[in-house]
Amino acid sequence: MGCTVIIGSQWGDEGKAKMVDYFTRDTDIVVRYQGGANAGHTVVAGGKKYIFHLIPSGILHKDKICVIGNGVVLDPLQFIEEMELLDKQGIDSENRIIISDCLHLILPYHLAVDSALEEIRTKKIGTTVRGIGPSYSDKCLRIGIRAGDIFEEDVIKARVAGALAMKNRLLKDVFGKPEFTIDEIMAIIHKFKEKAGKLIRNTQNYLHQAISEGKRILLEGAQGYALDIDHGTYPYVTSSNPTIGGALLGTGLNVSNIDEVIGISKAYLTRVGEGPFPTEDGGSDGDRLRVNGGEFGSTTGRPRRCGWFDTELIRQSCKINGFTGIALTKLDVLGGFKKIKVAVGYELKGKRLDMFQTYNLHRVEPVYEELDGWDENISKCKSADDLPSNAKDYLRFIEQCIGVKIKVVSVGPDRENTFIYE
Ligand code: IMP
Repeated sequence: MGCTVIIGSQWGDEGKAKMVDYFTRDTDIVVRYQGGANAGHTVVAGGKKYIFHLIPSGILHKDKICVIGNGVVLDPLQFIEEMELLDKQGIDSENRIIISDCLHLILPYHLAVDSALEEIRTKKIGTTVRGIGPSYSDKCLRIGIRAGDIFEEDVIKARVAGALAMKNRLLKDVFGKPEFTIDEIMAIIHKFKEKAGKLIRNTQNYLHQAISEGKRILLEGAQGYALDIDHGTYPYVTSSNPTIGGALLGTGLNVSNIDEVIGISKAYLTRVGEGPFPTEDGGSDGDRLRVNGGEFGSTTGRPRRCGWFDTELIRQSCKINGFTGIALTKLDVLGGFKKIKVAVGYELKGKRLDMFQTYNLHRVEPVYEELDGWDENISKCKSADDLPSNAKDYLRFIEQCIGVKIKVVSVGPDRENTFIYE
């Protein structure tokens, strides 16, 4: 008994929430290990659409425990809002959520600094402005506020005062923005303590204990490999590690606890925000993917940039993450295209590159293979045998190019539109 890790293999928005929801059936505990409310998890269950930003999507399964791990940055107000929303839907969140005492909080000055920084950047990153980067920065600067600190009133007050002394100078003198008072920050902290204080504990020990009791754990990553602050397309990345290393760091679990690493890949590619995207299609095919795939950000509503599946990018993602299998999502969206392009490598100034590099990704030209498309509606398919032969060829081609088996295929938004691919 051990853990399955679910990781986005591309630029996020691969359909992880749906897959987490799917894999959650076989697990007892679902854990988020990094990121914050910059992620948007959309799950459609029983025809109803749920969007979560912080709370693991496993919450929709009544008997599962959801853990928000130490690697996450948590906005208390956003968290309370999601809890209240769940309450309204009749979903018991209070007894099923555990928050790490070591995770860092996102406070209003983090959001203010996030947007002020983005305003003055000559080259925008396209941040979701949820305070993620500034909160992780404070963690490294050792001026962050951790969830467990809320139980030590004197300590936290001194910490907030120390952080504010810096932030207010930055906000007022550098950015010309309003300052924050200690009372308004403490009011948020007190509200969080009142509403969520009893959910906070040592999650590292909780998870190790659960493993020793034979429980199955699913680790849910946010964003994706190419947005990883170390391995992604820096500086157009998020401020955490969605890749496998982040899963360990962000939970306190170790290598021997991991059984399976599932890479979630969309059957085409999307990206939100700025940064290189070699297979982006700025023409009518890209528009068609956006409309057919409903490619608008679930956190910001921004239209996503769309393009073709990139096996060069995923091969790199497989190396970094050690995927034991791929779950391929949104295959149905490719229906109706006469030809479907797949990038099999990159060229620079007409010369085929033999090594993936992130520093020249904005200049490379993808080398495409074109495969025949299919017209059939595949959303009712229940197995690989039901798929049109061109769709089967597409999947086989991807598997060959990336060298990792596709294990699950998703052909529609609902839980039911998913099958094991063998
Ligand atoms: P931040 O993490 O909000 O600072 O945003 C940094 C970059 O990551 C921006 O390009 C965002 O659009 C992107 N990003 C952050 N979260 C997500 C996500 O959940 N899906 C896709 N892109 C994301």
